Amino acid sequence: MYQIKTINKISPSGLTRFAPGEFQYGDEIENPDAFIVRSASLHEVELPASLKAIARAGAGVNNIPVDKCSEEGIVVFNTPGANANGVKELLIAALILSSRNVLDAVAWAKTLKGQGADVPKLVEKGKKQFVGPEIAGKKLGVIGLGAIGVKVANAAHALGMEVYGYDPYLSVEAAWGISQGIHHAASLNVIYEQCDYITIHVPLTPETRGTFNAESIAAMKKGVRLFNLARGELAVPADIVEALKSGQVASYVVDFPCDELLDVPGVIPIPHLGASTPESEDNCAAMAADELIALLKTGAIRNS
Ligand code: MLT
Repeated sequence: MYQIKTINKISPSGLTRFAPGEFQYGDEIENPDAFIVRSASLHEVELPASLKAIARAGAGVNNIPVDKCSEEGIVVFNTPGANANGVKELLIAALILSSRNVLDAVAWAKTLKGQGADVPKLVEKGKKQFVGPEIAGKKLGVIGLGAIGVKVANAAHALGMEVYGYDPYLSVEAAWGISQGIHHAASLNVIYEQCDYITIHVPLTPETRGTFNAESIAAMKKGVRLFNLARGELAVPADIVEALKSGQVASYVVDFPCDELLDVPGVIPIPHLGASTPESEDNCAAMAADELIALLKTGAIRNS
């Protein structure tokens, strides 16, 4: 009987994967063979000697002490692509909402409450301040061409954007090959110089931390719009604030807001909603459970 400790509640389609009598799961398990975890941090959690594997029901593994696990022979894996659609949809919404200044415009429209019959007139007069460009025909740089980046590239292409793709780990040819929607396999410099919108979809590593910083932002087109639905630490908050003040960056959408950015004009702070859809949570739970069962039963790991 395999014992699996669920650190966060996992969705029904994950739980239905476990065969009765063969697997026992729950948050009370004492000597687990494996953990399933969503977003909770395991950095301060004592890893039991019985532990063989940790399944991360999601993409990023920065909530897991991966180096320590490697030293102790604990397999860590994630669920690549399982929540990519949720993130892609939010990114496409963010591209349009930020470009058209919709959130500021809605907040302003609400201030007209109480103006009675004058509301239509006030709307026509005041709306001009919010007018923003369409995204079709504009250049989008996609940094990171994994499951999410490729979906974003294809969806943006379908909306008429000219897409430039770059990946720190894939060759230009491979990046080109994995998405028919990517018009241009590009270097980072080309993306910085040419793109009107830049979105980042890479894991947080020592190499990627602070990718959006004063130096990279200075190399970008003036008025660029930045999107970070991956990890907050991929940008340097103080540099984003400066760039918004100077107009070098027109807006910054971030799905992991920090205190410093919450009330900064031009920042759209989303409370980590990218993969928070019932469908994505279900897909992640199902993939994590399937992979874990395969690993415990056969020793084979398909995701690493
Ligand atoms: C991910 O890493 O999969 C997303 O950020 C969502 C999450 O943390 O669960």
